[in-house]
Amino acid sequence: MSDSAARPKVAAVVVAAGKGLRVGGDLPKQYRRVGGRAVLTRTLAALAASPRISRIQPVIAPDATDFFRECVAELEPALANKLAEPVPGGATRQQSVAAGLEGLARSGAPDLVLVHDAARPFVDEALIARAIEAGGEHGAAVPGVAVSDTIKLVETIAPGIGRVHETPSRENLRAVQTPQSFRFGSLLDAHRRAVAESRDGFTDDGALAEWAGLAVVVFEGDARNRKITQAADLIEADRAFSKEAPAIS
Ligand code: CTP
Ligand code: MG
Repeated sequence: MSDSAARPKVAAVVVAAGKGLRVGGDLPKQYRRVGGRAVLTRTLAALAASPRISRIQPVIAPDATDFFRECVAELEPALANKLAEPVPGGATRQQSVAAGLEGLARSGAPDLVLVHDAARPFVDEALIARAIEAGGEHGAAVPGVAVSDTIKLVETIAPGIGRVHETPSRENLRAVQTPQSFRFGSLLDAHRRAVAESRDGFTDDGALAEWAGLAVVVFEGDARNRKITQAADLIEADRAFSKEAPAIS
């Protein structure tokens, strides 16, 4: 067994401040129930259950405090104890991540941070362990899976029509997921620089890190770790979680 003092202090930022427009409905997707528990409850539970993660910083919409409290109430107390007070997110995912990192910086910076989408409730311990290992070794690491479709790089020339520029070799393509893993100070600096230079709209932290000049590696993701994006994903997640052991309530 390695000395526990030598292990990096790992925290997670969970971004849950989106509106879930593509899924639609009255309630944002992270607060919808799948297999009897809210998506966000499942995501927080999976991260908090990891002995490797000591603290979780949730980022929520300012008007979603009551929904968030309901998710916390569904968590076992030992897991809920790892949650920091939620901080309000911003208009873009990037702004929400930045708010989460600043929250962690105020409450005691970790060595390593995992940034994770609330909309990915299938994250598990094996993926968390790979994220921490790759982030610890390389400083900036994102999970990716091989793509099965051939991908075209296009330029949109009319609604729904793109002119093909290039067909990159599929072997070199990865579909990227979260949790993404970074040395905390490097990612915080990169986000602060983006704010200072008015750069917004990076859809993942890997892209922001690349922009900031960090060398980013891709480690093995998990095909099951889908992001709930469309209404059909929510139905499928409900089915998948309903097959598991009954939810604790
Ligand atoms: N997110 C966030 N703040 C935003 C936008 C997104 O915290 N301003 C979070 C979402 O809550 C989600 C994750 O980032 O957990 C990934 O974003 P996405 O899947 O695009 O979710 P939404 O933006 O909510 O969905 P949509 O784009 O369909 O509106
Ligand atoms: Mg979005």
